Amino acid sequence: MSAPRSAAQAVACANIALAKYWGKVDSELNLPAVPSISLTLDKLTTTTRVEFDPSLTRDELWLDDALQKGSPFRRASRLLDQVRSEASLRHFARVVTSNGFPTASGLASSASGFAALAAAAEAAAGLDASLARTSRLARRASASAARSVYGGFVELAAGAPGDDGLAAHRLAPPEHWDVRLIVAITSQGPKQIGSTEAMERTRLQSPFYDAWVQAAPAWAQTIREGIAERDLEKVGQAMEMSTQAFHASAWAAGIRYWQASTLEVLERVKQLRAEGIGAWATMDAGPHVKLLCEARDAPHVFDSVRRCAGVSETLTARPGPDVSVRHG
Ligand code: DP6
Repeated sequence: MSAPRSAAQAVACANIALAKYWGKVDSELNLPAVPSISLTLDKLTTTTRVEFDPSLTRDELWLDDALQKGSPFRRASRLLDQVRSEASLRHFARVVTSNGFPTASGLASSASGFAALAAAAEAAAGLDASLARTSRLARRASASAARSVYGGFVELAAGAPGDDGLAAHRLAPPEHWDVRLIVAITSQGPKQIGSTEAMERTRLQSPFYDAWVQAAPAWAQTIREGIAERDLEKVGQAMEMSTQAFHASAWAAGIRYWQASTLEVLERVKQLRAEGIGAWATMDAGPHVKLLCEARDAPHVFDSVRRCAGVSETLTARPGPDVSVRHG
């Protein structure tokens, strides 16, 4: 007996953490050691189609027309195993995915990628999924992906070891606050160490890791309040502290993402503030700098960082929507 093919497509947006996630309390279940809060970004999307096909003898993952092997494939296949087990399905799946932004730009594609994969796989398998269920499935593959399932301002709490139920939740919808996130893509250096491996090394080797884990919840609390009050300075200051602290803890384990161009942009941000323009910076597992500002200041901030030495590309994003799914 072979069931008919079933397929679905999902579109998910990338997100940027305002309060950073760095470190796991349970690596097996992929549970974060600290709470994180993010802004989902429009335009920076991943589109993923999943088709369970009885004729396949193994899962296939195609990214921008190239068949993927290694770690991305294994992570995707593990997520599909989970869906197959929940839906009592045997068939392998063909996954075709493409990013609406350059994968090599160093922008996190795993968050939008695993959020889109989770949503498309559940729909293709006929599971009646809520956003919370999709978020939980995505979290197991990549914790930041749990946040990309929701639009707007989103929180993923810290996990408790062994508790697999953790999912992100929405703090406020996209229309709550008309902020902008300006991404300054700085010149690429040698290949960076990925976040999963880097945060584990930080946990094991950094003398500052415990201090980071202890300090992080207070910044998350300030950011939560700042979002509710639409207070950019409050959010921006805590976001910079959270960023600097996680990077410092990683640096102490020999992981340094910053390049000369990173510092150029950070200096420019300071100058902008001295001129009375509210812009605050954050960075992820790479040298690029992302700036948070009010919509009215975005053109000026954009123009200013675009001209920094070492900045190769600049783009502006707005608060983005929930993951969307289409059957067939
Ligand atoms: C620096 O979500 O990529 O972007 O759960 O191991 O897949 P895994 O890690 P990942 O880490 C993201 C780290 C970060 C900060 C953040 O997005 O909160």
